[in-house]
Amino acid sequence: MRNILNLSCLIIISICASCLGAKETDYIKVSDLTCEYLVNPLSVDVLQPRLAWKILQSDMAKKGQRQTAYQIIVASSPDLLNEDSADLWRSGKVKSSQSIQVVYGGKELKSMQNCWWKVRVWNNKGEVSQWSQPAHWRAGILSSDQWLGEWIGSKPDEAMREYREYVAENHRSRTYDRNRWMNPPKPPSPLLRKSFDVETDVVRATLYASALGYYKVWINGERAGDQLHAPEWTNYADYLQYQTYDLTGKLKKGENVLAATLADGWALGRLGGIKWFRFFPHRGFYALDRRLIAQLVLELSDGSVKIIPTDQSWKLNDDGYIIEADNFAGQTIDARKIPAGWNNTGFDDSNWENVFVDKNETRNLVAQQNEPIRAHAELKPVRIWRVDDRYLVDFGQNIAGHCAFKIKGRAGQVITLRHAEWLEENGELYTRSLGHARAIDTFILSGGDDYFAPEFTYHGFQYVEVSGMDFPLTEDMIVARAVSSDPDVTGSFECSNPYLNQLFSNIYWTQRNNMYSIMTDNPSRDERTGAAGDIQIFAQSSIFNMNMAAFFTKYIRDFKDVAPNGQFFSMIPSLRYEGFWDGWIGAPGWCEAGLIVPWRMYENYGDVRALENLYVEMKNHIDATRRENPDLIWRNRHNHNNDWLNANTIRNPPDPTYNNRRGGTPDDVFATIFFAAATSLFVDIAKVLDQNADAAHYKALADSIITKFRQEFVDEDGIVEGDTQGAYSMALYYGLIPENLREKAFEHLVRCIREYDYRLSTGFISTPLMMKLLVDFGRTDIAYQLLESTRFPSWLYQVTLGATTVWERWDAWTPENGFREDTMNSFDHVPFGAVVEWMYRHILGINPDINYPGYERFTIQPRPGGTLTRASGSYNSIRGQISSSWKIENGLFTLEIEVPFNTTANVVLPNGKKHKAGSGKHVFEVKM
Ligand code: BGC
Repeated sequence: MRNILNLSCLIIISICASCLGAKETDYIKVSDLTCEYLVNPLSVDVLQPRLAWKILQSDMAKKGQRQTAYQIIVASSPDLLNEDSADLWRSGKVKSSQSIQVVYGGKELKSMQNCWWKVRVWNNKGEVSQWSQPAHWRAGILSSDQWLGEWIGSKPDEAMREYREYVAENHRSRTYDRNRWMNPPKPPSPLLRKSFDVETDVVRATLYASALGYYKVWINGERAGDQLHAPEWTNYADYLQYQTYDLTGKLKKGENVLAATLADGWALGRLGGIKWFRFFPHRGFYALDRRLIAQLVLELSDGSVKIIPTDQSWKLNDDGYIIEADNFAGQTIDARKIPAGWNNTGFDDSNWENVFVDKNETRNLVAQQNEPIRAHAELKPVRIWRVDDRYLVDFGQNIAGHCAFKIKGRAGQVITLRHAEWLEENGELYTRSLGHARAIDTFILSGGDDYFAPEFTYHGFQYVEVSGMDFPLTEDMIVARAVSSDPDVTGSFECSNPYLNQLFSNIYWTQRNNMYSIMTDNPSRDERTGAAGDIQIFAQSSIFNMNMAAFFTKYIRDFKDVAPNGQFFSMIPSLRYEGFWDGWIGAPGWCEAGLIVPWRMYENYGDVRALENLYVEMKNHIDATRRENPDLIWRNRHNHNNDWLNANTIRNPPDPTYNNRRGGTPDDVFATIFFAAATSLFVDIAKVLDQNADAAHYKALADSIITKFRQEFVDEDGIVEGDTQGAYSMALYYGLIPENLREKAFEHLVRCIREYDYRLSTGFISTPLMMKLLVDFGRTDIAYQLLESTRFPSWLYQVTLGATTVWERWDAWTPENGFREDTMNSFDHVPFGAVVEWMYRHILGINPDINYPGYERFTIQPRPGGTLTRASGSYNSIRGQISSSWKIENGLFTLEIEVPFNTTANVVLPNGKKHKAGSGKHVFEVKM
């Protein structure tokens, strides 16, 4: 009987298996598998990571394709990865359209557990795809006691300790020896190496490593990985990311060598605080000594595991060839001091001492969550010219990174590279804006063939001055390497106005140049910090341009470091310093990044965890603002920037009574708009997370703030106090104007634009909001006029002057007045680049739909206007590639779109007609 039962079970199972596999088709293909937004990540610390895939359909004529079910299997080895033997998770056929944010639901994962996975999907026609290609993730080192590596390096630097104490004591007393404060000890980079034997074949080799400061590792003389600036900038007091390298195939039987060198990086090197604060240390902010931690895990053919951790047995040469390396100052490399073959086997290290093991060091190590920083482009000189005994090089593009240099000269010959974003009128480098950032790399030649790549520093530059040459500098000797965090590019744009195409390129580069694991304000001067206003206003733009999901997942963790009063910081990481400086707390329009960035993650990637992760902090932030401002007008502010660098401030001739950075919108108006905006947004967030009591409570608060705002700042004609383009834009955008006055307020906005002769007077925060409102109220024509204007101040004005990135200020340089305010004048700032969001949303017409987060549904509504006769572009969303391309020919508007599998587009045509479009290619025509 039992046998019969078993047999019938078997029959049912096999019937099910065949129905699961029924009508297999190959025109739909599951691809782009990711785990926690990364492709085959080697270490994932999240115990229930989120999986995602895209579905490609090769036949775009088969329209309206949707996913109706999926099946995932996860196994500990590729061999086990099939329906019957997968040992970690067999999801079974799950009826669901979900193809993103699918939470792993299998066995509990152990440290370093290998997870191989694949997925297949069913469509709405009852067809099933083939299985995807296998993808992989591996669990990270999940518990600190599995870190066998110890923190190693040179002996504690007593001079550094004294320096740091000196700064700490004197920043309170405010008496100081300026020279001492600005010149901390700077020992050369140490060289570390470990020689070890391997007797058995290595099946898999994985290196886990991190450092205080930057590090680079070699295995048998070959560089491990291509990441630069590792470990990246995090709030090191909270956590430090470690990197994982697959070194399989790099080891051999017999002697092997792991080698490393260290530099200051963000943990020890100069940071933005030195710009504003006397006594902010010039070295040693997060740590005093550079340290390495690593363990190489060798899985051997006999089934055993051998681990080579950093420990006392590693050898140290304290006098390395990198004489100095600092992000701001630059890097000095003495090629004469490179011990030949030091990072490879066969080197005699018997006269090297043993490393110091720092038993006091305990940092919270977390697997790297974001794509690494690396060189993403190489640029050749477009022009080299000689000035006296120096050479100037123009790379044709403002970038962040460094120059790599190939040369054979005299031993001891010193070559110096200075960097700048722009040239002075006399043709020399414009470096007055760099402040404490010296931005000079120095190469001391060995006399043989030398190759220098100063990877432990970075500069923002288009121009380089080379001195010390006694023979001509030629094009093949120097190359500029553009370096940044390196997620996939997701957006493209092209239209009939070449200036707009250049603007698009400028914005792309500006984003690139400021992505150094955090979003910096600029890559060139002595600041390079995470100015939160810049980030929040550019967040959606950055997401259109690149896949920011992993980048922001990492970054959001840094937002958790909040001020003691409960408010978010306005600069992340905060850089607060020893009671001397509390950090940059709660500047309206800046600190709300703590709500806006997670919301963008939700809207674009359907990421609920991003909201959950900061939920408590968001609530505390609003509570703190309320506590400190009982009458609900946000008057008590710890910091304030207002509508930073607005064009209102650029009066010609300058008006001395004007606040030259903040401009015309009254501070209380600006601040209260953001108090209301944050509270209203929090209501939406609470609703998504089913926190209904919170939603009701904060809705009442938002209503009260709005009522108070109206009483104080809006008159019966819809005039908002300040009467600026910015005030109307922000108040309308965030819903602070009563319904019956919205049209009137909008008319005032238009009047303010007219009074400015159809030019902008807006700053960082209000500019993109105004552009959006002009569309919402049916004045797309004015938006185009502003966008396409080449008159000062405008986006294209910069373009006509040769800008290749977006300037910090509308008037960074003008032919009439030259450079503006040297201490704050970068040519590479994201905020005004936020207009690219408008270009995606309104020229291409691609818009996410907050009611269907993660592009399950979206809108395509191009709004032809201005001089444009055509535009085309795309956005590779989390569910697949959306493209939109239109042209106007002989009075006929033709729109071609591509809608990804499993999504629906609401198409709105210029004549107002609406269509629903499922997956596939669609063409629409409208008589204009
Ligand atoms: C930064 C900005 C920032 C501003 C606000 C500047 O120094 O470069 O981008 O938002 O400060 O205070």
